[in-house]
Amino acid sequence: MDPADLEPLLARAGLTPGACRLLKVSDRAGGRTLLQLSGPSGQRLKVRRFDTAEAAAAMVHRRGLIGEHEGFARVLACCDTLVLEEWVEGATLDRRNLPRRQAHAAGLLLAGLHRCPRPADVPAQAGILPLLEESRGRLQELSDRAALPADAVRRLDAALLVGAPRQARQGLIHFDFCGENLIWSPVRGVLSIDNEKLRPGPLAADLGRAWALWPLSGPALQAFHSGYDAGGGPAERDCLPFWQLVGLVTSAWYRVRHQPAAAVSPLRRLRALAGGRLLAG
Ligand SMILES: Nc1ncnc2c1ncn2[C@@H]1O[C@H](COP(=O)(O)OP(=O)(O)O)[C@@H](O)[C@H]1O
Ligand SMILES: [Mg+2]
Repeated sequence: MDPADLEPLLARAGLTPGACRLLKVSDRAGGRTLLQLSGPSGQRLKVRRFDTAEAAAAMVHRRGLIGEHEGFARVLACCDTLVLEEWVEGATLDRRNLPRRQAHAAGLLLAGLHRCPRPADVPAQAGILPLLEESRGRLQELSDRAALPADAVRRLDAALLVGAPRQARQGLIHFDFCGENLIWSPVRGVLSIDNEKLRPGPLAADLGRAWALWPLSGPALQAFHSGYDAGGGPAERDCLPFWQLVGLVTSAWYRVRHQPAAAVSPLRRLRALAGGRLLAG
């Protein structure tokens, strides 16, 4: 990317483009790009390039629904397909032996998100039949692609049917809540630096998806859930195994299609679940 392309974006944030320096460019899946810049006073900044201007504006809109919140990286400006965000100094939480204090803080953060006012067009409750059918279809695809044995798929499909609630509480969900998208900052505590997938949806699905994406040890997982409860997290917990299975099926299905090497872990966990074992990671 030509640094001159950043000028209108930086100008919108009140920054003098000449005073900013490009530090690093990373290409991501689907032609998207992430840039790291150094700002005029040495602060780091981050630019996301989306496929379309609509996708960039939609992300900015959804981040705006959370309002001012220390726990979610701030958006500084948007221009066409580019979004400028703050860069937060700190370490990601995707390491082994995550301290319980940090897992607890992550649970509090997710509860805070789930307590945000619902967007006006999102109902308080919604039926989950379309989502159930989507997950069953994805499970079938894993069987068709020989990623899972047919008998495991039959058992998992039965577990989906038996475990599904009729309805689920809706709200704003993160949809990518996992260690590599969370930073521990000595100043701000745990905060989310990848808010691209924020969307309306079933709150409990976010807990199930976090479990699928972020395999925490037993004590850390407990601390995460106790943080969620301490923060008044409103997701129903009675059908959590169902949402965990949905999260794992979604993750395996996506990876088998787009990142086959990364599909090994969710497929292993699905096989274990089909065999009656509940694995954390
Ligand atoms: N604002 C930020 N502050 C600190 N680190 C960040 C920030 N944004 C991204 N990173 C680092 O870059 C990685 C990729 O960024 P992310 O926004 O999660 O994009 P993606 O997951 O789409 O590649 C993160 O996992 C984190 O290690
Ligand atoms: Mg990320």
